[in-house]
Amino acid sequence: MTKPAIMDHPLIQHKISLLRDKNTGSKEFRELVTEIAMLMCYEATRDLPLKEIEIETPVAIAKTRVISGRKLAFVPILRAGLGMVDGMLNLVPAAKVGHIGLYRDPETHLPVEYYCKLPSDIAERDVIVLDPMLATGGSAVDAIDIIKRKGAKNIKFMCIIAAPEGLEALTKAHPDVAVYCGVLDDHLNENKYIVPGLGDAGDRIFGTR
Ligand code: PRP
Ligand code: URA
Repeated sequence: MTKPAIMDHPLIQHKISLLRDKNTGSKEFRELVTEIAMLMCYEATRDLPLKEIEIETPVAIAKTRVISGRKLAFVPILRAGLGMVDGMLNLVPAAKVGHIGLYRDPETHLPVEYYCKLPSDIAERDVIVLDPMLATGGSAVDAIDIIKRKGAKNIKFMCIIAAPEGLEALTKAHPDVAVYCGVLDDHLNENKYIVPGLGDAGDRIFGTR
């Protein structure tokens, strides 16, 4: 199994602990997911290429570096992935955003696709797929299948909590996809929920159920 990059920065770990707390309400939960996504985005974009340019400061000409034109797309998996988009756009406001709608069938736990709208030039973009939870891995695997069928080649997957089962499924199906996660949890329960996890991320973000 390819090793994921675990984002063990103290700020990320602290905020994940607050997310896990069943007493954290939707408003704070959403704010925390935004903040964690922003911190993870900082790490996951570390390999963006730079080019040198010249800028005139008030004092002199400076040879200085800017990101060299690589175009990014963020693709949240609906619904819960939506919670991560603002944090990502705070750092990369020019990125385009695609959406893939998948829900887990309550009986089979398999993902069912209900929506897909991706940037028309997705094939030329570096893509970061967003979902707070990687449980069985079915949703992530299917979302990345869809994105690859549209021609994208450089794809990363970012989640806040992963289960070992999901990581294994994802890296087996898509060994070329770099995985970034906040924490690797213990296991899945009989309902395929991550243990200890944080419950249902979509319900906690949107206050449903
Ligand atoms: C959750 C979560 C992931 C998926 C993870 O979504 O946001 O998309 O489950 O599970 P998996 O790895 O076993 O596929 P859910 O299907 O509950 O939909 P929602 O975001 O609309 O609540
Ligand atoms: N989806 C969630 O939101 N939470 C889990 O623990 C598993 C799947």
